[in-house]
Amino acid sequence: MADTTIDKPGQKNGGNRPNLADETWKEAYGASQIGPFDYCPRLGFREYWYPGIEVKRVRKTKPTRTTMLGEEICFFRDKEGKVAALTDWCPHRGARLSLGVCEFPGTITCPYHGYTFDGTGQCVAGLIDSPDSPVVPKMRAKSYPTTEWQGIVFVWMGETEPVPLEEDMPPGLLDPNFTGRRYLRVRDWEANWTEPVLQGIDFHEFYLHRWAIFWRIFHKNLGFFRPKPVYQGNVRVADERENAASFRIGAVTYGQAYYPGVDAKWPVKAWWRKLGAPSRKTSSINRATPPTDQAYGAPAVTSTNGNSTNGANGTNGNGASTDVLPANKKLAAGLVLFGKAVQLPSIIYFHRGGPGDVVQMRWGVPITEETVRMWTFNVAPKPKTPFGSFWQALWYYAWRLPSGPVMTNEKEDLAVFKKTRLNLEGPQKLGPLDTGVIYFRRHLAKRARDYQRLGWARGVRREAPVEKVTAKETVSNS
Ligand code: FES
Ligand SMILES: [Fe+2]
Repeated sequence: MADTTIDKPGQKNGGNRPNLADETWKEAYGASQIGPFDYCPRLGFREYWYPGIEVKRVRKTKPTRTTMLGEEICFFRDKEGKVAALTDWCPHRGARLSLGVCEFPGTITCPYHGYTFDGTGQCVAGLIDSPDSPVVPKMRAKSYPTTEWQGIVFVWMGETEPVPLEEDMPPGLLDPNFTGRRYLRVRDWEANWTEPVLQGIDFHEFYLHRWAIFWRIFHKNLGFFRPKPVYQGNVRVADERENAASFRIGAVTYGQAYYPGVDAKWPVKAWWRKLGAPSRKTSSINRATPPTDQAYGAPAVTSTNGNSTNGANGTNGNGASTDVLPANKKLAAGLVLFGKAVQLPSIIYFHRGGPGDVVQMRWGVPITEETVRMWTFNVAPKPKTPFGSFWQALWYYAWRLPSGPVMTNEKEDLAVFKKTRLNLEGPQKLGPLDTGVIYFRRHLAKRARDYQRLGWARGVRREAPVEKVTAKETVSNS
């Protein structure tokens, strides 16, 4: 059953339930085997609002179509001009409604035999049947509740009553002081939804993006030709909420490190890293102070490398990474964004700097089991002057968009985890880089509304009831 209560960060509960942050941390150091679909449905959690389509794509005279959560949906305008969402399959003999036309305002007429449906899915006319056809009142196409926000149609595909949209929206998008959907990019990625969401809260940058982060040696707070990060200490759950959690790294080691297993240093060549690690004094990157480890009750891990700027005491901040940058509290109302955060059902946040501290946010909408539509928002405080607005747009279009969503995410991230390049079916061993992944798969997923309202989630129930997974893992650990 669902965990419906969680511990406040740092709070040792009365001994009945273990502290989830601690538990996750310990699980990471024991090489966890929690699987991608143990508690996460392959086609996503359903008892949530998801962004469906941009309003401008739905015209008055023609329907349009999309696939979400494995289902085909036909969008058209109802009598009030609101975007209606019906299943694309005509209840008569199963033709695609989206291939039909809007013969009458506010309706869609099926291309096959001409049955006509209104925005609620009710059949209202059988054009070649007869004006008083007896099947018309009996025929109904499945409809999905919709609501609109800033030109985006949100669709509810759950079985239960929809919640108010605000409950599922990232708070930063709702705050009128922020840019909302102004910097939005929507792309279909060839990957199961879980991977791009979980890679948003794992820690892979120092390897996968080791070339892309070259710019950091020119970071204003680090001066020129500073060493690049090599590895980090441990990843912790920094904050946990009912429907969200945030994560931060521990210690960052810069320059080079020695790896006894290969009897060599890495990175192999480091000609530009001559100046030593930036001192705390010179680095002002740390503008947020993460909570202390003591507060979380987790044992501190100390780096043995002399070059390490150890943050295990909770004052870490010398990291030239995105991971310990300031919490933009307004963007995550209540949730403190220490570097990276995730919100159910499939929203991730990470801080990306830029004018006004921009937070990049991705909302993954499962399409099929192997594709996901990625709605990437960049959310910044609204500029106060026309020049500020121009500067922000220039920054986004000339720098953030090409270097972030395009190069980093679509060219580098997707290149390693797109379908056929990532095996989600075999067993996985998760460790300290994957604390966020473990937390999401093991704990946050079980707090999803599907579990809370239905007691199960579609596609995982039979294979992975709570007790069975635990038993199976014990066996397969060897
Ligand atoms: S299949 Fe749609 S009207 Fe016959
Ligand atoms: Fe990445």
